[in-house]
Amino acid sequence: MVEQLPQSPFTRLAQLLGDTKLGQSPIQMALGEPQHPQPDFVVRVLSEHAEGFGRYPPIQGPEVLRQAIARWLDRRYGLSGAATAGAHILPLSGTREGLFLAPQILGKRSGQTERPSILIPNPFYQCYSAAAFAAGYEPVYVNATRETGFLPEIDALPEALLVRTAAIYLCSPSNPEGAAADEAYWRRLFALADSHDFVVLADECYAEIYDHVPPVGALEARYRQTGSLERALSFHSLSKRSSLPGLRSGFVAGDPGLIGKFRAYRNVVGPALPLPIAHASAAVWDDEAHVQANRLLYSQKFELAQSILGNRFRFYRPAGGFFLWLDVGDGVAATERLWREAGVRVLPGAYLAQDTVTGNPGASYIRVALVNDFATTQEALRRLAQTLS
Ligand SMILES: Cc1ncc(COP(=O)(O)O)c(C=O)c1O
Repeated sequence: MVEQLPQSPFTRLAQLLGDTKLGQSPIQMALGEPQHPQPDFVVRVLSEHAEGFGRYPPIQGPEVLRQAIARWLDRRYGLSGAATAGAHILPLSGTREGLFLAPQILGKRSGQTERPSILIPNPFYQCYSAAAFAAGYEPVYVNATRETGFLPEIDALPEALLVRTAAIYLCSPSNPEGAAADEAYWRRLFALADSHDFVVLADECYAEIYDHVPPVGALEARYRQTGSLERALSFHSLSKRSSLPGLRSGFVAGDPGLIGKFRAYRNVVGPALPLPIAHASAAVWDDEAHVQANRLLYSQKFELAQSILGNRFRFYRPAGGFFLWLDVGDGVAATERLWREAGVRVLPGAYLAQDTVTGNPGASYIRVALVNDFATTQEALRRLAQTLS
C-alpha cells in the first residue's frame, strides 16, 4: 500500500530545492501552518485540567467539549439543535486522523465485480488518497479547474462510476484554491449521494477563514434540504480557525448512524483527545472574539496581495482559506526560481494534484500560504512579484 501512495508534497519540495544557496533571507510560504497569535486563555485552561493527563480519555470526549461543539455548530450553521452532543458529534485528534479513518467505517458494496471507489477532488489534500487506498477503495480523481469554479465537476460523472462510489471528499473552502461550495452545489452533491447511496465527507477545516461571506456548510445545506444530516460527515478543526495546529483538536459531525460506527471503530483503533486538550478545546470553540481577529488579519493580507499583485498571475481573492493560487505558467520552475532568487518558499501546484489523461490540473500554479505576519507577507509578496514579473 505504501508504494501506491503519492509522495508528500513537502518531501518532493525538499528534493526539488535541495540545499540551494540563497541570495536572500528565507521566507516560508509553503506550509499551511498559521503563525497568528493563539487565543490567550488556552495554556491557562490546559493547566487547570492538567490532572487529566493522568487518565485515559474517553473516546467520545467529555460532554463539555461535545456541548461546546454543538453550540458552535448552531451558531455557525443555524442547525437549531439538529447536531446533538449525544449522537452527532465525535471529537478527533485533529481532522487528519478522522479524514484518514473515515473510509474504513463505510460499508463496502457487495455483489459488485468492480472495485468500489472514493471520489477525490483534484487538486486535493494528500491524506484523502492514502485513506482510500488503506480502506481498499480505488481513489478516482475529479478535476477542479478554473473552468469548473475550482470545485470538482459533479454533474457529468459517469453512471458506471457513481454506482460503485462509496464516498466523495469535498473540501470547502478548498485547499489549495479557496473555492467554497454554495447551497446549490451541496444540494446537487447530496442528491447524487442519495440516488447512488454514498456518503459526503466534507472537509471544512477552513470554514472560519473567509473573505466576506461565511461559506455554506455541508450540514446546514443538508439540514435545509431534508431536515436530517443523513449521508453527511463534516470535519472541523481548531488548527486554522484558532491558529492551534499543534493542539491537534478537531471533530467530525453528522449522520448519527455513521457517527455511531465511527465511535465504535475509534474506540478500538483511534487516538482519543487527552482530557486537558479537550477542556481547552471546549473553551476555544466557545470563543468567537479571537476568530474574528484572526479572520481580519487574513483579510488584511488578501487586501495586501491584491494591491501588490493586481491581476498578475490571474490573482483572485478566494472565498475562503488562506492560500493564493497563482497561475505562473510553470509552477515547478517558478518555485525553484522564487527560492533561489528571492528566498520565498512556495509549493508547486502539481505536487498537490494527480496527473490525469488531460494533464495535471495544478501544473501551472503555485500555492502561497499567507500564514506569516503582515510585514513578512508584504516583503515576501514584493519579492515574489518582482522575481516572477
Ligand atoms: C484541506 C485540509 N484538510 C485537513 C487538514 C488537517 O488539519 P488538522 O490540523 O485538523 O489535522 C489540513 C491541514 O493542513 C488541510 O489543509
